[in-house]
Amino acid sequence: MTSEKDENVVWHQHVIDKTYRAKLKHQRPAVLWFTGLSGAGKSTIAGALENKLAEMGYHTYLLDGDNVRHGLCSDLGFSEQDRRENIRRIGELSKLMADAGLIVLSAFISPHREERALVRNMLPQGEFLEVFVNTSLDVCEQRDPKGLYKKARAGEIPNFTGIDSEYQAPLEPELDLPAGQASVDELVELCLVDLKQRGIIK
Ligand code: ADX
Repeated sequence: MTSEKDENVVWHQHVIDKTYRAKLKHQRPAVLWFTGLSGAGKSTIAGALENKLAEMGYHTYLLDGDNVRHGLCSDLGFSEQDRRENIRRIGELSKLMADAGLIVLSAFISPHREERALVRNMLPQGEFLEVFVNTSLDVCEQRDPKGLYKKARAGEIPNFTGIDSEYQAPLEPELDLPAGQASVDELVELCLVDLKQRGIIK
């Protein structure tokens, strides 16, 4: 389909590009995409990992569901269609931030394999790392840090992931974190080891 936009809007190639920006920061850009149920520990682990990376001198940016939904995605709810659009926007945003030379940590339930694959395909090979925050529904529901599972069970929140809306676990994530069994420090260490092995950090 050719739209007016396709014909009349051309991509401008600026001189200062991704490679240049990343070189100034002495790092390799990447998008670490944390996916898992609500209460799995996505934001907590991503935040703790970001602290470590910042201490080591890396330039990062953390995007998380609850925060982005107050701004960029404040017009979106939790229908299948809205979640898809939520992830598409965050994907584009993560891509721009990686283009700025940053190590991006994105923490979103992102329940569908298809949308996660869409974001993976927005980025060059090896730059998108899917991190499965693998905490069982039982554990998430016991934790219930925001009291949302209780509300969802009472029928007060429709389309709640894991209750009446599906979560599709990753089939081949780059990293599968046993987040129901290990401490945050141990999980952060697993992430750091993996990032070193991949040559994203030194
Ligand atoms: S996603 O499915 O579109 O990726 P996202 O990560 O942005 O979700 O937002 C999830 C957060 O929104 C949860 O941590 C929870 O605090 C809140 N929330 C509110 N309603 C729902 C719902 N129906 N399902 C899941 N999370 C919800």
